[in-house]
Amino acid sequence: MIVVLIGYMASGKSTIGRQLASKLGFSFIDLDSYIEEQELLSISDIFNKKGEIYFRKKESEYLNEIINGEQNNIVLSLGGGTPCYADNIALLLNDKSILTIYLKVGLDEIVNRLGNEKYKRPLVAHIETREDLKDFIRKHLFERSLYYEQSNIKIHTDHNSAKEVVEKII
Ligand code: S3P
Repeated sequence: MIVVLIGYMASGKSTIGRQLASKLGFSFIDLDSYIEEQELLSISDIFNKKGEIYFRKKESEYLNEIINGEQNNIVLSLGGGTPCYADNIALLLNDKSILTIYLKVGLDEIVNRLGNEKYKRPLVAHIETREDLKDFIRKHLFERSLYYEQSNIKIHTDHNSAKEVVEKII
């Protein structure tokens, strides 16, 4: 079985994924870290040096590689954009051995969290004011929610610690 965590940037996919995997006795794979290891570049450097189209192509390739690989019993945390490109959501939903979980966080909470860590995220790193960041995320989240909401399970995580979210999932 593969448990796939989906959600917007800063929704806790990696932190919750790692803890969930340890509770379940599953392996943990973070797709962004996997891409960085394979490409020998940070996500920011991939965007800056090779561009977003290249990143999206590799992101889908590595997702397929993990899902079609030999390894089983995995918790896999995706990047925020992964389900929204290249039919990736259909790939995930059509596979009966995959459980997709959407970690849903409200707009204000995302803005708060991302405000502190946006330098790591090439899509928002250049946005200067909180107001502009909020405008960008509102629209982006609206577009992306169409994909995220197709997940098998949806969990609201705004007011919960990572530990509590893991308990909810289990
Ligand atoms: C992206 C989210 C990032 C990373 C890349 C693009 C996105 O992952 O894959 O910067 O399109 O939302 P996180 O969701 O882990 O920040």
